[in-house]
Amino acid sequence: MKPKSLIPSLLIMMIIVLQGCAPENPPQGNKTATATDAKVNELLAQLTLQEKIGQMTQVCIDVVSVTENGAIAEPHRIDTGKLRKAIVDYHAGSILNVANHCYSREHWYEIMSAIREMTEQNHCKVPVLYGIDAIHGNNYCEKATLFPQQIAMAATWNPGLMEQAASITAYETRAAAIPWNFSPVLDIGRHAAWSRLWETFGEDVFLARQMTRAIVRGYEGEDISDKYKVASCIKHYTGYGFPVSGKDRTPAWIPDNYLREYFLPTFEEAIACGAHTLMINSGEINGVPVHASHYMLTEILRNELKFEGLACSDWEDIIRLHTKHHVASTPKEAVRMAVMAGVDMSMVPYDYSFYEYLLELVKEGSVPVWRIDEAVGRILTVKVKLGLFENLFYPASDYPDFGSEKHRLASLEAARECITLLKNNDNVLPLPKNSRVLVTGFAANTMACLNGGWSHTWQGDQADRYASDKLTILEAIREAAGGQNVSWVEGTWFDSITDADRAVRQARDADYVILCLGEMAYCEQPGTIGDLSLPPAQVELANRLAATGKPVILVLTEGRPRLISAFADHMDAILMAYLPGNEGGIAIAEVLFGNVNPSGKLPYTYPSSPNALINYDHKYTERVPEVISIPQFEFGFGLSYTSFSYANLALSTSELSSTDSLRISIAVTNTGARAGKEVVQLYVSDLYASITPSVKRQRGFQKVELAPGETTTVSFVISPSELAFVNADSQWVTEPGEFEVTVGNQTERFTLTD
Ligand code: BGC
Repeated sequence: MKPKSLIPSLLIMMIIVLQGCAPENPPQGNKTATATDAKVNELLAQLTLQEKIGQMTQVCIDVVSVTENGAIAEPHRIDTGKLRKAIVDYHAGSILNVANHCYSREHWYEIMSAIREMTEQNHCKVPVLYGIDAIHGNNYCEKATLFPQQIAMAATWNPGLMEQAASITAYETRAAAIPWNFSPVLDIGRHAAWSRLWETFGEDVFLARQMTRAIVRGYEGEDISDKYKVASCIKHYTGYGFPVSGKDRTPAWIPDNYLREYFLPTFEEAIACGAHTLMINSGEINGVPVHASHYMLTEILRNELKFEGLACSDWEDIIRLHTKHHVASTPKEAVRMAVMAGVDMSMVPYDYSFYEYLLELVKEGSVPVWRIDEAVGRILTVKVKLGLFENLFYPASDYPDFGSEKHRLASLEAARECITLLKNNDNVLPLPKNSRVLVTGFAANTMACLNGGWSHTWQGDQADRYASDKLTILEAIREAAGGQNVSWVEGTWFDSITDADRAVRQARDADYVILCLGEMAYCEQPGTIGDLSLPPAQVELANRLAATGKPVILVLTEGRPRLISAFADHMDAILMAYLPGNEGGIAIAEVLFGNVNPSGKLPYTYPSSPNALINYDHKYTERVPEVISIPQFEFGFGLSYTSFSYANLALSTSELSSTDSLRISIAVTNTGARAGKEVVQLYVSDLYASITPSVKRQRGFQKVELAPGETTTVSFVISPSELAFVNADSQWVTEPGEFEVTVGNQTERFTLTD
């Protein structure tokens, strides 16, 4: 990646975007033409201007659905007249989403068949590209396999599980005739309060990059025309995950050097892995909405990162340049800005205004035809590569493993590995199998708390209807411990006490209390909060139960680390389950009763107080005063039912030259009595640098499984470029000087020479 300075780029962007004078000529490239290019060029030569602009238009399924009394009719049906308008009159290139809730596979096939038939009436018969957010399994199709959400997959620290989950998701998405997945989220989740934190791989760039590679490979494989693969959509390019306020779609201020160091690498990784499409950040960075940023969408994305795929807007985000961001004085100007900045497809999604404005703009000469051809060329390339011209979809019978036991077990394995044991006083866990337990707390008996948002519905609020055959935490505990040993009192709802008195009374008759707290399902702006603490009702129940003197095991299902410092000290054990998906209830019960030894590690820093939201790789000056800045739990933390010791950290050299690599080895021993998995984490600190260094950065990890008493030697090889940072001139550099390596409780130093 070639670093650039911000100021000249902003000037160019201002000239192009604000003055409205479109460059007359397309950028020149020297790509070798392929068979795909030939097909795309042939199509471009045949399509009319109207048809090309239609290709750039994406509408949501609501626009082509039957309505009754102003609402989408139930059961859902396609309105043929509206579909004709979309595909034949407006030549819409893409349709997205579900209206209201998920559909059966059969209904997806009906929808796609109707779309295919309508496309036959177009003279070029360009297939419609259908996209959904299948972000943790094909969550918009009934009976599909639902996996842990991305944050939980990150907590497994096991990219192999991520690749498998993504591969199954691709299979089950295509099994519902859909070829395009608006996933993965590659935003770095560095703000604990952000309502989409759980859609990310957490706060660390290194961990997120490993997971990025796995998820893109899993979705796309070697060839997206494979009937078991989908085109991924890497989103939300970029900086969306770091709003200053922590509230969704509010401004981010990100200096160019930090943009490159923290917010580009996952996208760079995905592009290197061949990701075919990208979705743009709805927010603004440094006052420039990304949808209007030529700097972000063309200079960095195309010229530096060399992304050749399709760049799609997010929901309504072009028109919002006028209605929300106030950088375009008219909706038409918003369209011109976005298209000239580099947006190829507009997720309009409720009308055809984008089409009308863009047509006018091209006719007036404010948007050149080459820019239309460039955008449409990228859209057609994805359609050709997906093989949609040959097969819009394949017979349902080609997918015998849809929703199968095999796929369920893959989800269960991921759920088991994500669960993170944060506290275990006096080894209270695992619980004896015949103990009498009280299960309490609203999160114990709903599938919504296990799955979170983007599950069956956008907000994930109908999980109990669609996943009624799956086990909640309570049901799984009953199966594990025997119904006669388990009593259940709700105790509290998310934010209001229900029957806490009864819970406290019943706690006295139990050996242990399993208290299930956390968050209800949410996503995007509806999930915005003004206070990161868990609601007072939950805190009250926790403290009252602790006062009974019975051991209390806290199980958290939550999308972000809600503050628990008001009662965490009174809990005997704490189990973080994140949003573990449909098999999460079973996995939690297995961990509670010791059938599974937990091995998850936190993919973010769990804060202890609202004004100390810092990340693990903070600056030296950030932890002030030390006493309030200590997190509840550190990034990378997680206990096991066994114990591990680290010894003999060895570096291949104490003086590393810029052309050599450093080999690091460490002996890890399972010193406990049962087999377990440990994530061996390698941190490096650059002790002095030209801009303030982080106290440490993760530069490697490996998850190993060890039998009791077994020792293994774990090795890492890192090159000086992997120690680089982006300096004040936006350049990736490694500066000579002293570095400290930390693995477990061991540290060693080396010097990087010129
Ligand atoms: C979200 C995207 C999503 C899109 C389509 C938007 O509101 O920000 O993540 O892909 O909707 O559903």
